[in-house]
Amino acid sequence: MKIKKAIIPAAGYGTRSLPITKVLPKEMFPINGKPAIHYVVEEAVASGIEEILIVVSRNKNMIIDYFDRSLELETFLAETNKHHLLEKLSVPEAHIQFVRQPYAKGLGDALELGKPFINEEPFAVLLPDDLFIEKEQSLKQLIKVYEKFNSNVIGVQKVKKELLKNYGVIKEKNISTRLHEVVGIVEKPQTAPPSNLAVVGRYVLHPDIFSFLMKTKPGVGGEIQLTDALKEMLKERNCYGYEVSGERYDIGSHKDYYKLLKKMNNDKDYLDEL
Ligand code: G1P
Repeated sequence: MKIKKAIIPAAGYGTRSLPITKVLPKEMFPINGKPAIHYVVEEAVASGIEEILIVVSRNKNMIIDYFDRSLELETFLAETNKHHLLEKLSVPEAHIQFVRQPYAKGLGDALELGKPFINEEPFAVLLPDDLFIEKEQSLKQLIKVYEKFNSNVIGVQKVKKELLKNYGVIKEKNISTRLHEVVGIVEKPQTAPPSNLAVVGRYVLHPDIFSFLMKTKPGVGGEIQLTDALKEMLKERNCYGYEVSGERYDIGSHKDYYKLLKKMNNDKDYLDEL
């Protein structure tokens, strides 16, 4: 079945990036004049996604406004002969919906709100903190694996041992270069991580995940963790881990955000445009 739908959970407080996230959602951090979430939606669309649900929270209306039209601005640009600027207002072509998460109860809870949107189809999840620079979109790489095995697929990458405690980490059986069978998964292991393969914010999931999410109790940080629901689902459904290629930047980390800006500011097309 073709993967047409995606959920982008963007409801977190962005505490790592305070104080700016008091007023500016981290998903709106600018990268060459576009907000970070624009690139994530672009990645989804380029991977074949047609319908997207963005889960927001009360202070994230700016994201909703960004993906809406701005008729006043469009009229102004047209009336003042600035037609060439109109194309700058365009956003990736997809049907985008929004839902608000009433309480910050974690990623698993945010995803659960997408159940009626997804209905009974396999779907993608893109965590908007993680941006990738790669010719072939990370999500597209996962969708190819999904199409081959018709099973859940999680994007993973090798991470230094001392940093594994910040991620979901898989226990795996290696199948081939880049491809692993997931036999266990643990959220933010404080001791003895089961491998050096960390979950990097891209998933293709069977809709059964919702029944597991509904039964999931709060885990690490008192939040409903997607990782815990995935762990339960492993008892009933296969899951693969695919080592996505591409440089990953976590925009919730100051260091990665600046590294990404530096990288993008050297982008020749962008500099020519200025
Ligand atoms: C979330 C997931 C974690 C994953 C990470 C990737 O954690 O819970 O499993 O490894 O995203 O960015 P968060 O960074 O939201 O704490």
